[in-house]
Amino acid sequence: MTTGEAVFTETIERDQRVEPADWMPDGYRRTMIRQIAQHAHSEIIGMQPEGEWITRAPTLRRKAILLAKVQDEAGHGLYLYSAAETLGADRGDLTRRLIEGRQKYSSIFNYPTHSFADVGVIGWLVDGAAICNQVPLCRSSFGPYARAMIRICKEESFHQRQGYELLLNMMSGTPAQRDMVQDSVNRWWWPSLMMFGPPDADSPNTAQSMAWKIKRHTNDELRQRFVDMTVPQAEALGVTLPDPALRWNAEREHYDFGQPDWDELRRVISGDGPLNRQRLARRRQADEDGAWVREAAAAHAARRSGVPA
Ligand SMILES: [Fe+2]
Ligand SMILES: [Fe+2]
Repeated sequence: MTTGEAVFTETIERDQRVEPADWMPDGYRRTMIRQIAQHAHSEIIGMQPEGEWITRAPTLRRKAILLAKVQDEAGHGLYLYSAAETLGADRGDLTRRLIEGRQKYSSIFNYPTHSFADVGVIGWLVDGAAICNQVPLCRSSFGPYARAMIRICKEESFHQRQGYELLLNMMSGTPAQRDMVQDSVNRWWWPSLMMFGPPDADSPNTAQSMAWKIKRHTNDELRQRFVDMTVPQAEALGVTLPDPALRWNAEREHYDFGQPDWDELRRVISGDGPLNRQRLARRRQADEDGAWVREAAAAHAARRSGVPA
């Protein structure tokens, strides 16, 4: 074992952080770049389903909240691309991989939004599931990722609360508003459970990621935690979750629940979800529309540093 390897192994064993200049196995670097890039892409693509509702928010207050939330997601993408760059990745290259369909993002953002209740349900369930996934990542072994995650989680917590508060408001409104919320919950519940990834038995990379302490819990453990956390919130809200198998198991002290349609998850991940093409086309268009801004910024920076562009 080389000195670098020994230091790396000891850092992981002692639960300390690996920093960008430290020696790390190639597989660790590759895994970290892929995971951080996919996470960054998810934040940026995730701006689309809710961004569509900014011009249609019912009040000025809701518009201000939604604008702030969607801007936060852009910020999360930026922190994460920066964290990937500390490993030697190039942000422009990562963006190209995304828009050419060579790198993935969270399956959840390929589902359509049908009503303003979806803004509330996305905050409650989708940001809620993201929090379950991301809180343990604050202790991830790669320093820049773990530190970015601390700030991101604080903002995700605001996202979840604004969603839940919006839903509480709608549930104390008219029967039509309550129906909108229930319809939205029915559509988002199963895709939210899929956000934790395939069952552990079909997740071959989990063991290595846990050994490297990139991941702290398996997909199924996090999914269970999310269900246990969400059921009482659904009861308080007065909505039902669309799963006939959902019930408290006193012996396990957890909720039992049904399995999502894993074939659907495979289809959505492989590019064949309801809106994959539209989401990527929009991202590609934004990239093309923004090219002149990037060129102008680079020319300006070059002029200031005295080096011609
Ligand atoms: Fe986010
Ligand atoms: Fe969020």
